[in-house]
Amino acid sequence: MRIVVLVSGTGSNLQAVIDAVQSGELPVEIAAVGADRPGTYGVERSAAAGIPTFEVDFKDYPDRAEWNAALTEAVAAYSPDVVVSSGFMRIVSPAFIDAFRGRYLNTHPALLPAFPGAHGVHDALAYGVKVTGCTVHWADAGVDTGPIIAQEAVDIEPEDTEDTLHERIKVVERRLLVATLRQLALAPALPN
Ligand code: GAR
Repeated sequence: MRIVVLVSGTGSNLQAVIDAVQSGELPVEIAAVGADRPGTYGVERSAAAGIPTFEVDFKDYPDRAEWNAALTEAVAAYSPDVVVSSGFMRIVSPAFIDAFRGRYLNTHPALLPAFPGAHGVHDALAYGVKVTGCTVHWADAGVDTGPIIAQEAVDIEPEDTEDTLHERIKVVERRLLVATLRQLALAPALPN
């Protein structure tokens, strides 16, 4: 199974995938890692691991449609079986979803459909829920919507800040993402 991973920042989930591939735990090929802006640590980590990288900088395009077309072309060039949005903080167009229909996987730091969007951890804390978690799902053209593949709960502690909670969620999220990719690689018939 060939995957392309899209990132916007740190890429710690991506690093868990790279580590699992390198240790032989995860039988996938990371064909490339792409970002929506220059200078992400996610791309830096990938280059250090010898993985091809690309950047389709949102700021280089006159509008969202042209950026989406360029992103679609850049990802398609690697012929991925699955595209993973791993902390990729931009909404892609229906055209991108069409190109990778049923093959675009997203990971989100909340128990969807609760707390979608770019601030899932903050929003869960602000609401005052006592349990949140993470979700791995097939992404459609909405904001963190689409069929759910796997979820795991994380308790919120009274003293939690956004940072401490997000870090605990990410520990679970990394494991869930690797396990889901492994399941897909071994038996590619997960619901979509
Ligand atoms: C992850 O927690 C991911 O779920 C979240 O960004 C973080 C990226 O961390 N994505 C979203 O909130 C998407 N709505 P990382 O760059 O360290 O992997």
